[in-house]
Amino acid sequence: MRRLLVTGGAGFIGANFVHYWLAHHPGEPIVVLDALTYAGNAASLDPARARPELTFVRGDIRTPGLAERLLREHAITTIVHFAAESHVDRSIHGPDAFIETNVLGTHELLKAARRVWLDDAPGGDEVRFHHVSTDEVYGSLGPEDTPFREDTPYAPNSPYAASKAGSDHLVRAYHHTYGLPVTTSNCSNNYGPFQFPEKLIPLMLVNALDGKPLPVYGDGLNVRDWLYVEDHCRAVEQVLLQGRVGDTYNIGGCNERANIDIVRQVCALLDDAVGTCASLQAQFPRCPAARGALTASLVTFVDDRPGHDRRYAIDAGKAQRELGFEPAETFATGLHKTVTWYLEHESWWRGVMDGSYRDWLERQYSVVL
Ligand code: NAD
Ligand code: DAU
Repeated sequence: MRRLLVTGGAGFIGANFVHYWLAHHPGEPIVVLDALTYAGNAASLDPARARPELTFVRGDIRTPGLAERLLREHAITTIVHFAAESHVDRSIHGPDAFIETNVLGTHELLKAARRVWLDDAPGGDEVRFHHVSTDEVYGSLGPEDTPFREDTPYAPNSPYAASKAGSDHLVRAYHHTYGLPVTTSNCSNNYGPFQFPEKLIPLMLVNALDGKPLPVYGDGLNVRDWLYVEDHCRAVEQVLLQGRVGDTYNIGGCNERANIDIVRQVCALLDDAVGTCASLQAQFPRCPAARGALTASLVTFVDDRPGHDRRYAIDAGKAQRELGFEPAETFATGLHKTVTWYLEHESWWRGVMDGSYRDWLERQYSVVL
């Protein structure tokens, strides 16, 4: 039987993955290891609190000996490594935490896996270290460039991307040098429930509901490839079950969109939902749609992100051919689900946002007139 250690399981994708795994693999024990940084929220695991399979450990992946103890105590067979500092803007303002968690933290996990799985119990249960990474390691594309493939050379541009690239290289090296059974997935932009409102889609949603400006960086024409988070979770499952040890898999939605189009689509969905529902109008009186105005009137173009990558696009052909990966959601269905979730979970997003982080966020934007 598989026994999972999920790092970062109280974060956005990690929490969605825990819910996905419990639904599809009932009876398989899961230990979540999460430091509960500003981005981690134990409430995101609330729907699974009663499940006997789930053990939550509040702890830091950088702590020497911690992962090793958990691997032994819980006889872990599978590590799914989500824990990271994940926000590009934060990495620009303070890169240190990114190097510490993403590079050094990943290395602590690799050392623990090597010691427990290879040195102490060689040839035991079938084991796997799956590393969750990003398409940002490949750098930025021009409008005519072909999408990122697994053999696209790394060219990370932000401290976040560089720290993820560093962790990818360490994972690769532990396989090549020590024979650690690893897989890596490099995914495009995710969206969906439980995403902290610092990332584009949830930030636009919560600001719109509070009648605050919707800060669009630069000309709003930067392009990302968007994937509904549950589709990413299924892709990780497919890599774990069918992926080739030592391989990397690019995961994406084949769904490129300019930021300004995303923001306008979010606004239109709020116009529909709030504009036609008296109880939502009472709940969110500052949203323009509550008084019959257009939510898009809040769009505000602001200074660009320094070093802002222009375009990301993923060629997910290998995952399609070898794993049968196909996104189940279209962007329209996924975005509708996401907007509905945020409308129905105000207490979750207000809870994760209160405190100093909110003030920090608001100080970052200088409005371009
Ligand atoms: P997130 O910021 O929402 O969650 C990160 C989680 O890691 C949080 O729960 C946090 O408390 C935890 N964490 C941070 N530092 C830790 C530490 N030192 N020890 C233990 N726990 C720690 O991130 P996310 O968006 O869910 O991303 C998860 C992973 O997926 C990351 O590795 C990220 O690079 C990758 N990824 C994200 C996206 C995306 O669009 N969000 C896309 C591709 C890949
Ligand atoms: O591509 C995968 C990556 O996607 C992940 O590895 C990262 O963890 C994740 O944060 C995400 O990175 P991005 O920088 O693409 O996501 P973000 O939501 O921060 O921004 C998406 C786009 O929207 C980007 O071009 C910047 C722009 N943006 C973002 C914010 C927060 C704005 O215009 N305004 C904003 O307020």
